[in-house]
Amino acid sequence: MGRVYNFSAGPAALPVPVLERARDEMLDYQGSGMSVMEMSHRSKKYLAIIEHAEQMLRSLMGISADYEVLFQQGGATLQFAMLPMNLITDPKEQTADYILTGSWSKKAMKEAKKIFSKIRVAASSEEVAFTRIPTQTELNLNPEAVYCHITTNNTIYGTEYHYTPDTGKVPLVADMSSNILSRTLDVNRFGCIYAGAQKNLGPSGVTVVVIRKDLLGRQANLPVMLDYKAQAAEQSMLNTPPTYAIYILGLVLDWIKEQGGVAGIEQRNIRQAQRLYQVIDASGFYQCPNQVDSRSRMNIPFTLSKPELTETFLSESNKAGLVTLKGHRSVGGMRASIYNAMPDEGVEALAQFMTEFERRHG
Ligand SMILES: Cc1ncc(COP(=O)(O)O)c(C=O)c1O
Repeated sequence: MGRVYNFSAGPAALPVPVLERARDEMLDYQGSGMSVMEMSHRSKKYLAIIEHAEQMLRSLMGISADYEVLFQQGGATLQFAMLPMNLITDPKEQTADYILTGSWSKKAMKEAKKIFSKIRVAASSEEVAFTRIPTQTELNLNPEAVYCHITTNNTIYGTEYHYTPDTGKVPLVADMSSNILSRTLDVNRFGCIYAGAQKNLGPSGVTVVVIRKDLLGRQANLPVMLDYKAQAAEQSMLNTPPTYAIYILGLVLDWIKEQGGVAGIEQRNIRQAQRLYQVIDASGFYQCPNQVDSRSRMNIPFTLSKPELTETFLSESNKAGLVTLKGHRSVGGMRASIYNAMPDEGVEALAQFMTEFERRHG
């Protein structure tokens, strides 16, 4: 049985050594005689697993003691609502800034608007079909905002911030679902970072939230599951956490460390993205609609100058073991998602397939 190169936007490919280790530990986790899936979340062995995951994340991202690290459920989508619920104390008076760079930031804003209506758009690239990221000078920031929300990588449109916006004293809140741990960054520049795990961190079912401690506890009487302070007080064990997803997340973090940490992974991501963009830019056959300085290293959308060949491209690449390359329905064409776990060989195989396909059909 062969493995394919999986270019899915998420849930996405996991590192093979992680899957192998999970397989080896499946029936008997470290002499416990049971799988992690069958283990009490209060057991000593499991507590060591969740503590390890947190410590690894802290050390890989350089997260200081000023921040809580939470493992939540409900995906990044729940964070769209949980953030305003926790941070806004006066929904009639307070406001927050949203920078719109694609469908996910729009969805985040839409959810927040259900909690409080006074939301401002501080910048948007919608008028150019989200093909670029607004620059710092284009941001029309409100110094009184309770927070400013960005989506650091736009999974659908394939654009990415290559700078961290300066929002002054206003806490910067970032949805990093599709590029967390793919590049080095200074966590201290953020009030909150959140990410669904199923692209760069592990399987679906767990969402990582890194939040500055002074942002907790502003809102009394929230349902406990929606209250960051209550979650932090119980080390994400207020109820049964997604135990197996957190275990795999810990293994992925071990693997990232072995790759030279985030700096090592970043070099590899730059190399892989360059390889694919070079194939696209060197040809008149493939196009990527995005402005060069805003292009994502994680999600690379491209179309064909002969769009009638799109189905042929997808079926032939699929037969060659290069799967899930269909673009998002709102963009069309193809999208190659090359998250941290994508091996160089997968990118090379796709680059060669593209060159060969162009030779035959271009
Ligand atoms: C940038 C971004 N934010 C949010 C989401 C939604 O995540 P979830 O399915 O974990 O709610 C996604 C999913 O693809 C995403 O790419």
